[in-house]
Amino acid sequence: MEDYRIRQELFLNDLPNDSIVLIPTNPISYRSNDTTYPYRASSYMLYLCGWDAPEAVFMAYRTSGTWVTSIFVQPRDTKAEIWEGRRVGVEGASSNWPIDEAHSLTDIDEIISEKVKNFNKIYSIPGSNSLLDQIIHKSGSEVLDPREILDNMRVIKSEGEIKLMKKSASLASLAHIEGMKKTFSGIGEWELQSIIESYFSSNKSCTSYNSIVGGGDNATILHYNSNDIVVNEGNLVLVDAGCEVYGYASDITRTWPVNGKFTIPQKEIYSLVLRAEIAGINACQVGAPWSAMHHAASEVLAQGLIDLGILKCSFEEALGENYDGKFRNFFMHGTGHMLGLDVHDVGGGRQGDKSPERILQSGMVLTVEPGLYFGSWRTDIEIPSRYSGIGIRIEDDVLITDTGPVVLTSECPKEISEIESLIGNGLSENNA
Ligand code: GLY
Ligand code: MN
Ligand code: MN
Repeated sequence: MEDYRIRQELFLNDLPNDSIVLIPTNPISYRSNDTTYPYRASSYMLYLCGWDAPEAVFMAYRTSGTWVTSIFVQPRDTKAEIWEGRRVGVEGASSNWPIDEAHSLTDIDEIISEKVKNFNKIYSIPGSNSLLDQIIHKSGSEVLDPREILDNMRVIKSEGEIKLMKKSASLASLAHIEGMKKTFSGIGEWELQSIIESYFSSNKSCTSYNSIVGGGDNATILHYNSNDIVVNEGNLVLVDAGCEVYGYASDITRTWPVNGKFTIPQKEIYSLVLRAEIAGINACQVGAPWSAMHHAASEVLAQGLIDLGILKCSFEEALGENYDGKFRNFFMHGTGHMLGLDVHDVGGGRQGDKSPERILQSGMVLTVEPGLYFGSWRTDIEIPSRYSGIGIRIEDDVLITDTGPVVLTSECPKEISEIESLIGNGLSENNA
């Protein structure tokens, strides 16, 4: 509760006196006819007051120099609750939530249309609530985007948020371990997905993004998630699956051989990616620029690809002047991103972003996730036959602290020998 009040105060005190804040949550998304996707509130709503039910609007305005925070919610309604489930309602919201007052959504037009008359500036995020957008449009007031302020705040996690992120990282790590233990040659990607996701749901969690379970060549497709192919003897499987705890995401990737034993070529690539990942993590120091981890990981990869004979050129040519050299043929994505209420969290800093380069600060949480991909299906470059069909990524979640990077996903092993000893050791006699 205290955390929300602190956030509200920090945010609102950054706004001019003559402004009102109107932030809607996410709309319900339909999957098929009248069937919906599981509901996920907007991260801004969760951040400002933790309200996770649909249709709500967060409002804040100044009266006699003091900020009043408020929320519009679905009112209690027995008929609707019979079908859709219990509602907290207006009474519940005003007495148990970190806000000053609550209103029914049925009064939104009347109350907001009247309220906005007193303010010249409206801070809102359009596109999620058409009624609210119309009311705002009719007011004729200047509309401003609150996200720059909120995003800057969200980049630094509070102690409470870090606790939730540790829990989320721990669950995702244990789910990957569960997956390794239950892996065998011939396992379906969907079976592995189910083992991991049922670990999430049995711990009252859910996925934070579509799980990627790619066996063999499928691991070389970065956002592969059809997860419908059998992983055969001799192949690696790449599992990129994270969960959410009170909205806070984890995002972890491990790659392992389904038969429990890396081949020599697989080991060569795995060891190189692991060295790059550790170099990236070690570069996550307070005061370092955001790009430091990308540069550190890239340098290891570029040199390693030369050492393995995959790139036949100088280090300078492999790396490129702007880290855009030949190594990018095999490592096509960024080295990491911010992590928080969104898996690709706000605050900029992703490689290729136009936002100014961020300096790492204590309390930031980010991922480090280099990989190397040798898709046998590639037609744009020559894939060395020794490594054809290998795709490996290793991804951890990292908290920046004054005493160095803390790996929140450290419970999940990533050394070759640790992984090999886990695979298949949770199988029953029937499928071992
Ligand atoms: N799971 C998506 C990513 O690693 O960024
Ligand atoms: Mn990931
Ligand atoms: Mn990631």
